[in-house]
Amino acid sequence: MSVIQAQTDEPIPLWAYAWSTQPQPGDTARPQIPPSRDLRPGDDPDEIYEMWTVEGSSATYSRMDTRDGGNVIDWFPGDHPPMTDLMRHGPESLRGVVGNRGCASCHLPNGKGRPENAPPAGQPVEYTIQQLKDMRDGLRYSADPRKPNSPTMNLLAAAMSDEEMQEAAEYFAAIPWTRWMYVIEAELIPEMHLEEGNMYVTVGTEATEPLAGRIVETPVDEHQANYLRNPRSPWNVYVPVGSLAKGEELVVNGGEGKTIQCGICHGADLMGLGAVPGIAGRSPSYMMRQLYDMKKGTRNGTGVALMKPVITNLNVEDMTNIVAYLASIVPPPAPNDVQ
Ligand code: HEC
Ligand code: HEC
Repeated sequence: MSVIQAQTDEPIPLWAYAWSTQPQPGDTARPQIPPSRDLRPGDDPDEIYEMWTVEGSSATYSRMDTRDGGNVIDWFPGDHPPMTDLMRHGPESLRGVVGNRGCASCHLPNGKGRPENAPPAGQPVEYTIQQLKDMRDGLRYSADPRKPNSPTMNLLAAAMSDEEMQEAAEYFAAIPWTRWMYVIEAELIPEMHLEEGNMYVTVGTEATEPLAGRIVETPVDEHQANYLRNPRSPWNVYVPVGSLAKGEELVVNGGEGKTIQCGICHGADLMGLGAVPGIAGRSPSYMMRQLYDMKKGTRNGTGVALMKPVITNLNVEDMTNIVAYLASIVPPPAPNDVQ
């Protein structure tokens, strides 16, 4: 077994992993609640079975349906290729096993993902297959051992057949990456509630909470995004004042030799090139976790060799500026773009 040499002693950027304290030795991920259609303690049946719809959809679902990750709902079938059994129910080898879930339960049927998971839509087929293999082979896991959904992801990758990896990669690659967030430079932001290991939820209306060097990614409409799992409901991203210009300098010019211009490999528009993934307009929390995980050595698949010289001299503050700028890039419009 090879020992991975960590390249950073900097503490985890907590905002990206959605925690308020650093992990302690021995910390592990709390197991996720397996999907089921059983009522949970505290559920009000009237509420759980009430039927809902969302703007622009002809479907109706209850809260029981929206949270059933073993049989994923589909508000907008026209936004993506036909959902496969893999997307809806999870890998065949785990069918009927407690804890199996459809890929779309976390990544959404349109592959746009959420801050706490990943945005696989529009990524190259070859890249996605490699990532699934890296996760299966233990070459890619979270630098924060408490992150609850990463072990689930790795378990699903390990359960997938080669055919299912191909199928998933083709499904996601067929969906163009479109705008998914609004980036705002701010000193003060509305009061946030941190759902630990998950995401920030906006609870205030006035800007009163100091951003204090974080990036805070939060649903524009919590009810739509979380309760109804509306996959067209976008995100607000608060970034530090000045971070966009500093990030642009590093991304576009390499910061006078501090790093390498990202466009050389990721494409001039940073939307991906060949087997190299797109990095523009995607979740900054996700992107930050990737850069930090690569630096820490917990994401260490073969493709990461090309990223090593890019991250060597970057500290957490540089990476924060970089992912702020990347998030602010608006991808070319497509028919299902958010307004
Ligand atoms: C429980 C939620 C969950 C489910 C279900 C899930 N994933 Fe993931 N997925 C994640 C998380 C978490 C990550 C990694 C995020 C990180 O590194 O911070 C991830 C990452 C990925 C990536 C890497 C994306 C990239 O840009 O590198 C791919 C590809 C992926 N998942 C595909 C799948 C497929 C295919 C399935 C269904 C078999 C699936 N996922 C099911 C949570 C989930
Ligand atoms: C020499 C080529 C090269 C350069 C230059 C480069 N990258 Fe990468 N990047 C890659 C490759 C290859 C991968 C895929 C790694 C893997 O397979 O795990 C990648 C992956 C990433 C990822 C993870 C994407 C995901 O979906 O998980 C991020 C984030 C990233 N790069 C950011 C950057 C930034 C920011 C810059 C510029 C400062 C940059 N890269 C410059 C080659 C490069």
